[in-house]
Amino acid sequence: MRKCTVRAGSNIAFIKYWGVADPALNLPLSNSISMTLADAYTVTTVAWEERPAQARGEAPDEIVLDGVRLEGEAAQRIVAHLDRLRALAQVDWRARVVSQNNFPAAAGIASSASGFAALTVAGCRALGLELSPTRLSALARRGSGSACRSIFGGFVEWEQGHDDTTSVARPLFPAEHWDLHDVVAVVSRAAKAVSSAGGHQVAATSPFNAARIASLPPLLATVRDAIAARDISRLGPAIEQDALAMHGVMMTSHPSLLYWQPGTVEVLHAVRRWRQEEGLAVYFTIDAGPNVHLICEQDQVGPVVQRLQQLASVQQILVSGPGPGPVELDEHL
Ligand code: PMV
Repeated sequence: MRKCTVRAGSNIAFIKYWGVADPALNLPLSNSISMTLADAYTVTTVAWEERPAQARGEAPDEIVLDGVRLEGEAAQRIVAHLDRLRALAQVDWRARVVSQNNFPAAAGIASSASGFAALTVAGCRALGLELSPTRLSALARRGSGSACRSIFGGFVEWEQGHDDTTSVARPLFPAEHWDLHDVVAVVSRAAKAVSSAGGHQVAATSPFNAARIASLPPLLATVRDAIAARDISRLGPAIEQDALAMHGVMMTSHPSLLYWQPGTVEVLHAVRRWRQEEGLAVYFTIDAGPNVHLICEQDQVGPVVQRLQQLASVQQILVSGPGPGPVELDEHL
């Protein structure tokens, strides 16, 4: 048995990945920039049974996520990723995967990003594959696009690239560079109707998709510069603009994806009110779901949390600062 356990942080995108140029390879339509999170992570143990498929009677991989054994379609996406690892190592061993998120599944934090990053690193190390972080990033991208960014800690940019090896993330600044925080306002725990994987495939049906993609180069430059200068007043408006542009694309694609709930809008208005009326330096972004990520510097976290607690639609609040890339752990799940 060859085993390895890895903890990987999720990430929140400031400039989003939305829409695929190649759904098989998860090649995006643009670059994206994110912050890897310290306190929202997945721990994954991968154990390979060193017996060929025939000797084990073709027993399928065993996958347990948050205490539940995955079957059928739910397991398929992970098995497909294990197949990529087996192909690289040229083995046909069976895998046992146990994975645990430290945040609730429907919290609006991307568990696919931390999950596929942890699975890729643990799976490769247990197989004895010594891949560079760049190659791990390309591999993680095949599981879930945003996972390629969680291969690095701190502030990260995913280069669009044009093929499997060039579409990879690279670190911009380490976590210590800027104590920025993500305060997640959970306004709904309902499972989303359309997964991001399905959403990426219909993005191009929106008449606004091409306009959003064309608008990104200067916005990416602003976000890069604002992170370099630790300037929240430049970062904030840019991330709000892209979150709204992405949701504009989602709402106007075919089928139309409306991830927002009434609580989403309540939080958006509140953030702008706190900024305008109380001078709080806090800005929002929203992923493929109803929950709102509030981005602010460390000294604003207390006042932001306190105000969020007053809003009727906020059911739960999660807070995370920037965190490291994947870390190998001695204790297995
Ligand atoms: O990696 P996926 O397929 O789950 O897509 C992530 C999509 C967004 O979270 C909405 C944006 C992003 O860049 O993380």
